[in-house]
Amino acid sequence: MRHEHIISAKQLSRADIEEVLDHAAEIAADPEAYADRHAGKLLGLLFFEPSTRTKMSFTAAIKRLGGDIVDMGPVEYSSVKKGESLADTVRVVEGYADALVMRHPSEGSAQMASEFVDVPLLNGGDGAGQHPTQTLLDLYTIRENAGLDDLTIGIMGDLKYGRTVHSLAHALTNFDVHQHFISPESLQLPRSVRYDLHEEGATIREHTALEEVLSSLDVLYVTRIQEERFPDENEYREVAGEYQIDAGALEAASDDLTVMHPLPRVDEIDHDVDDTEYATFFEQAHNGVPVRMALLDLLLEGQ
Ligand code: NCD
Repeated sequence: MRHEHIISAKQLSRADIEEVLDHAAEIAADPEAYADRHAGKLLGLLFFEPSTRTKMSFTAAIKRLGGDIVDMGPVEYSSVKKGESLADTVRVVEGYADALVMRHPSEGSAQMASEFVDVPLLNGGDGAGQHPTQTLLDLYTIRENAGLDDLTIGIMGDLKYGRTVHSLAHALTNFDVHQHFISPESLQLPRSVRYDLHEEGATIREHTALEEVLSSLDVLYVTRIQEERFPDENEYREVAGEYQIDAGALEAASDDLTVMHPLPRVDEIDHDVDDTEYATFFEQAHNGVPVRMALLDLLLEGQ
């Protein structure tokens, strides 16, 4: 792994992705073998936004490598409340840890913060921007369930504000994948993301109805409408509750369909899907541990 910081899926080549995924598979096959690998190493957690999976799976990952965390804790109890700048916070915290994971509501914040630190900084989500470590566990899950080449994927929901979508769509351009984007017109991919995908030569199609493509899909990646990112609550209410799936809606799908979701879900996937063969979202969330172990191992090793 030649990268110092992990900021965006755009920086990851196919070789980088395969290195992390292959290593994650080795770790998943024999986690005990890695139990002392990074004994004494500390991972600094800077979460300026809510998180369950990203924060807890990074914590589990460093602990399963023999290390530990130093956690800033909730923003309201940190010096950010006293007016400390992000640059000062990260410059201080890099002295307490061997690597940092940061989640922040502002797009571009991870890139900015990384310019002030020498330890590896991993972007755990920057506003509506990017979420590259989620993408690595998404790709791992896709590879395990459907394979990454000759793949047809539907990505549905909030394509405008969904950072997991922006990262995943870009990373998939490294593989032989047909990407279908399904959303209300008001939540289509941002122009900048669409431009980048075209630049990478991606084959993408945009739809407003899932039925148009469902039967052709190998993977359906569903996302939550990102309520917290809407500047206007009325705009949110107009689209809330659209694009829900239940077991009945999936009857038209291929038997081999893999249904994924970065979670948390609100009402996009009915609970009756959980007991079907399609449901892969809990497995996906669990894959966060070996994938983040692999990533941390490669980054800490390279230091
Ligand atoms: C996602 C996020 O934070 O972007 N959550 C996660 O990390 N699994 C998805 C979301 O919040 O909808």
